[in-house]
Amino acid sequence: MSKTLKVAAVGCGVIGRRHQLGYLEHPQAELVAVCDIDAEKAKDRAQELGVPNWYPSIQEMVANEECDAIDVVTADHLHFEPVIECLEAGKHVMCEKPLSLKIGEAEQMVAKAEEKGVHLAIDYNRRFAPGYAKAREWFDNGECGQIAYIDMKLSQGGPVSTWKGPYYLLYELQTHAIDLLRWFGGEIVAVCSQMAHPRIKDANPDEDPCWTSMAISARYETDAVASLLASWDSDFTHPIERLEICGSDAEIVVDNVLSLATLMRREDSVVEEYRPSIFRMEELAFDGTFAWRVKAFVDDLFNDRPPLPSGKDGLQALRVVEAIVQSWEEKREVTVQRDE
Ligand SMILES: NC(=O)c1ccc[n+]([C@@H]2O[C@H](COP(=O)([O-])OP(=O)(O)OC[C@H]3O[C@@H](n4cnc5c(N)ncnc54)[C@H](O)[C@@H]3O)[C@@H](O)[C@H]2O)c1
Repeated sequence: MSKTLKVAAVGCGVIGRRHQLGYLEHPQAELVAVCDIDAEKAKDRAQELGVPNWYPSIQEMVANEECDAIDVVTADHLHFEPVIECLEAGKHVMCEKPLSLKIGEAEQMVAKAEEKGVHLAIDYNRRFAPGYAKAREWFDNGECGQIAYIDMKLSQGGPVSTWKGPYYLLYELQTHAIDLLRWFGGEIVAVCSQMAHPRIKDANPDEDPCWTSMAISARYETDAVASLLASWDSDFTHPIERLEICGSDAEIVVDNVLSLATLMRREDSVVEEYRPSIFRMEELAFDGTFAWRVKAFVDDLFNDRPPLPSGKDGLQALRVVEAIVQSWEEKREVTVQRDE
């Protein structure tokens, strides 16, 4: 690889811009081109950020541009075709979450990356938010000991109906939570779920009413369990998120993604707290998490490490989603599908 990692970016919406700023900030990355099927958006973005080239199609971009990796930030139901096109061109790809709204497509994306011998990564950016990153540091240092349970709540405002199906909450938002549950607890082998739609009277009759609050229980392959309270019936003004990991030696709590991380050891009564600096905007706002995630992607590729979280993590989160849905529809515990 040359002295810089050459990256091209697909999708010039609001979130794509966050990714693109991340590449521009990274000293070893070079954002060589942006692409959007809306040519005006691509042109405007290139001008705004000082990116040398812009394209109205991926086909044109890969034909004309030398790059090592492509960052795909199209809308969540439009990941499949752009990602396959970029993988087919032999580029490493970073895809926004969820990998797809269809598990069959996600399987094909993972398989295509393997076939072409390139890396497919996913933007589960919470892993890189300061609160979770600190929790992971404590976790990797062995502070927790043996995990007994993980309890997660992720609840914010969200739609009461959509054309993207009654379980869209799971795909759009909760794959983030499922990823965190897997990251700290390991593989989830079985799930049970309960669902409610307390605002259903407000649903648009032309759309699918969504299940907007869910209580999900999970069992790990180790002797541990997890619970996930998943909702769109809350609001963004409240703390939207909390993760608690209980182990034999300590508990770790992460409040609101990046507000606070706490380590409570059992051996003494001393509590350790991590609070992001009020002088570092990128640590204090959710928007900053995209640049942290992009940085890790570039660092991994540059240092020849498979970028994590990977497309396989994206696929496995979707398999957990499928099991949650099946559990609700069949009113029973469902085993999560795994790679053979
Ligand atoms: N990780 C997070 O925390 C987080 C937060 C919000 C949104 N997201 C995700 O970000 C993604 C994008 O969100 P957004 O709000 O920026 O979407 P958006 O629809 O505003 O922007 C996507 C852009 O992609 C372009 N596009 C679509 N198909 C294309 C193609 N084949 N080739 C080139 N360009 C194409 C569209 O014209 C559009 O400009 C979604 O997957 C969403 O779920 C992630």
